[in-house]
Amino acid sequence: MKITIMEDEHQFDIAGAWRIIGQMMAKPDAVIGLSTGQTTGNMHKIVSDIYAQYPFDTSKVTIFNVDELTNLERSYPGSCYTMIYEQLVKNLNMPEENFIMPPTRSDDFDSECVKFEKALEERGGADLQMLGIGWNGHIGINQPGTPFERQTWVSPMDPIFEARVRRETHVSDDYPLGGLTRGVVNIMQTRKIVLIAKGKAKAEVIRKALFGPVTTDLPASVIQLHPNCEVLLDREAAADIQELL
Ligand code: GLP
Repeated sequence: MKITIMEDEHQFDIAGAWRIIGQMMAKPDAVIGLSTGQTTGNMHKIVSDIYAQYPFDTSKVTIFNVDELTNLERSYPGSCYTMIYEQLVKNLNMPEENFIMPPTRSDDFDSECVKFEKALEERGGADLQMLGIGWNGHIGINQPGTPFERQTWVSPMDPIFEARVRRETHVSDDYPLGGLTRGVVNIMQTRKIVLIAKGKAKAEVIRKALFGPVTTDLPASVIQLHPNCEVLLDREAAADIQELL
């Protein structure tokens, strides 16, 4: 596991953007997994800005997001589809059929999970996963306690995040919100993982994930077992591991 610590948040965003662009340049038909959230918004904007200035071939690139909210409209601004589309896909002049996402609504999410994985497999499987980490160590929407062998599924949500989505969308409590997420094992099968975190709120979970025991109680700890993983941090997110390096 390689750990890269950037001086500040902006340098972190730029470094993350180049991980994405570098993968597209190294392999023009790369299959690239992204994550939504506060960690990645600026990073994706930087990719779009660099592309606008120095366009490169994106005609064969495939993009997907590691997870998606379920039981909301896809057009909801907080859906992963809409975020990734707005931040990146629409700016890259890539064929829209190369943006692979599960639906937000379905009567049969089990078969949608299988279809999502199959679509990625047909394109040769994921080359890169830019992987965010939740405050409680979740990856994708795999919450603490999720078995590592779990395949892509609809997981219960992080309660704090769920409360925020409900507030913003006025979805009532008796309406089931879920999160379709690649399973831990599917994420681990990606050829390269870049775990990304910035800000001091992530410092403690980063220390536990990188230097604590590998345990399903903290799903992100599984990346210690990945043969090709880089951890990209800013100084604040790295604050609790400095003395361990
Ligand atoms: C959400 C997303 C994850 C993301 C994580 C971190 O739960 N489903 O994919 O990695 O939270 O988000 P943030 O970057 O906003 O801290």
